[in-house]
Amino acid sequence: MRDLRISVTDRCNFRCTYCMPKELFGADHAFLPRASLLSFEEIARLARLFAALGVTKLRLTGGEPLVRKEIERLVALLAPIPGIADISLTTNGSLLTADKARQLKAAGLQRITISLDALDDATFKAMNGVGFPVRKVLDAIDNAVAAGFAPVKINMVLKRGANDACIEAMAEHFRGSGCVLRFIEFMDVGTTNGWRMQDVVPSAEVIARVDARWPLERVPANYPGEVANRWRYKDGAGEVGVIASVTQPFCGGCTRARLSAEGVLYTCLFAGGGASLRDLLRGGADDEVVMDKIAGVWGRRRDRYSELRTEATPEIAARKKIEMSYIGG
Ligand code: GTP
Ligand code: 5AD
Ligand code: SF4
Repeated sequence: MRDLRISVTDRCNFRCTYCMPKELFGADHAFLPRASLLSFEEIARLARLFAALGVTKLRLTGGEPLVRKEIERLVALLAPIPGIADISLTTNGSLLTADKARQLKAAGLQRITISLDALDDATFKAMNGVGFPVRKVLDAIDNAVAAGFAPVKINMVLKRGANDACIEAMAEHFRGSGCVLRFIEFMDVGTTNGWRMQDVVPSAEVIARVDARWPLERVPANYPGEVANRWRYKDGAGEVGVIASVTQPFCGGCTRARLSAEGVLYTCLFAGGGASLRDLLRGGADDEVVMDKIAGVWGRRRDRYSELRTEATPEIAARKKIEMSYIGG
């Protein structure tokens, strides 16, 4: 266990088709009640215990993490925790003003990843489900760079027929910009996004297309178990990545634990259930009891969902799974 991904809210102001389709996450959708969310102090206490058990990387996710008020206050509580070497945030960028980016940097955030699925406004607006324009996400990327977050990573989820025509345009735009574009295979997280294998654009195809225009070569991973495969432009224009969790599952090297906004510990993105740490905290458990619980859950984990999916184990694929907006990716 090396990484902890912390979802700070299950709410989001976007309705991306592959994550929170608007037909299913409508006005009557029941989000988690405020009182059931972990407070920043509770999250920081848990992060300290995870760090004591070996976690060195934290990533804040959502829903959309910036809809949680004063998230920089949480970052400031996490940054001084002994053993934590890296704190990052994954955001849709819609609320990342220049001020917010500076506040996050000042609080101790080290890295930002911004999701952007197309450069073409009509395509992006249709994919984010709320008609949000590309320009504003590009502004957010500029704000992150200006605040000193370079290299900013850009996440593009590929869905066949929706945005695969935009691969080269996205690569061209971010080549030489200092940002690292990562193409992500559409995954069967949750049960609401209508996932079908035929909608997945295999990463091998993406790399072949980009390589045909701008020759690429492989780069070794930044760290063992890195999710993205890295490639570099031979002409020196920087690098791109692919996250091929469907066609080339990487469960074997997975060191990621996940904490939901209400304090449930999950050991896999595709888990059906988890262990409530919030109930322990609120029941008055001392640090040792909570750490024993975490270590016990992690020690028993046998997760390898993506590999089982590839092996086409039917009962596995049909299993109940939590939603991306709940677990944060
Ligand atoms: P760094 O390598 O630290 O920069 O972060 P990251 O690439 O893990 O973070 P990010 O939040 O940008 O995740 C990129 C994509 O990989 C998202 O779509 C995640 O849902 C996906 N992902 C992250 N971890 C896992 C995992 O354990 N399994 C699977 N299948 N997908 C994952
Ligand atoms: N498949 C792949 N990636 C997804 N994301 C959200 N839902 C999916 C999915 N079904 C991405 C978001 C964000 C990251 C946390 O996960 O676009 O960049
Ligand atoms: Fe929101 Fe991220 Fe899901 Fe898009 S992918 S709806 S930004 S949580």
